[in-house]
Amino acid sequence: MALKQIDHGSKEYQQMIALRLEILRKPQGLTFTDEELAKEKDDILIGAFEDDTMLACCLLTKVDNSTVKLRQMAVQNNLQGKGIGASIMSFAETVARDKGFKKLMMHARDSAIGFYEKFDFKVKGDEFIEVNVPHHVMEKRL
Ligand SMILES: CC(C)(COP(=O)(O)OP(=O)(O)OC[C@H]1O[C@@H](n2cnc3c(N)ncnc32)[C@H](O)[C@@H]1OP(=O)(O)O)[C@@H](O)C(=O)NCCC(=O)NCCS
Repeated sequence: MALKQIDHGSKEYQQMIALRLEILRKPQGLTFTDEELAKEKDDILIGAFEDDTMLACCLLTKVDNSTVKLRQMAVQNNLQGKGIGASIMSFAETVARDKGFKKLMMHARDSAIGFYEKFDFKVKGDEFIEVNVPHHVMEKRL
């Protein structure tokens, strides 16, 4: 498996949108707007690949000079629970640290909190609803 950054608008980015739609949006009856995707132009886009197939993805959005937000973490349905999420999470942390960020935060789905706790992320604050799903803010120092 290869972990790498990909370019906005590339063939790999189209694969990323398809994966995110399948895993994160369609189950909620939602899609992405063009405006939403255009905003990702300056994000750090990350994919895990086997040959040319994207197995998993996530992205990092700058919040301010010290903080970056992890978003859109998704592993193909039939490949979950095999360590791919852990690999892409470690890669994303390394990229964030290398770019000089000091804090990594996210809006974690409640169903995934246990996954992020494995990486020492801590819940902060109260539950809220986003894309129809209960979430909590989680964060850690890098
Ligand atoms: C959540 C997700 C990214 C985890 O990736 P994964 O490849 O399935 O996870 P891994 O196999 O790398 O698991 C790493 C560890 O986390 C644990 N883990 C994985 N998913 C978990 C979950 N949802 N809750 C609690 N623990 C979890 C695993 O048991 C494993 O523990 P171990 O190291 O003690 O064996 C993936 O399952 C997924 O895409 N889920 C659907 C979309 C989603 O919820 N995305 C997150 C939005 S915030």
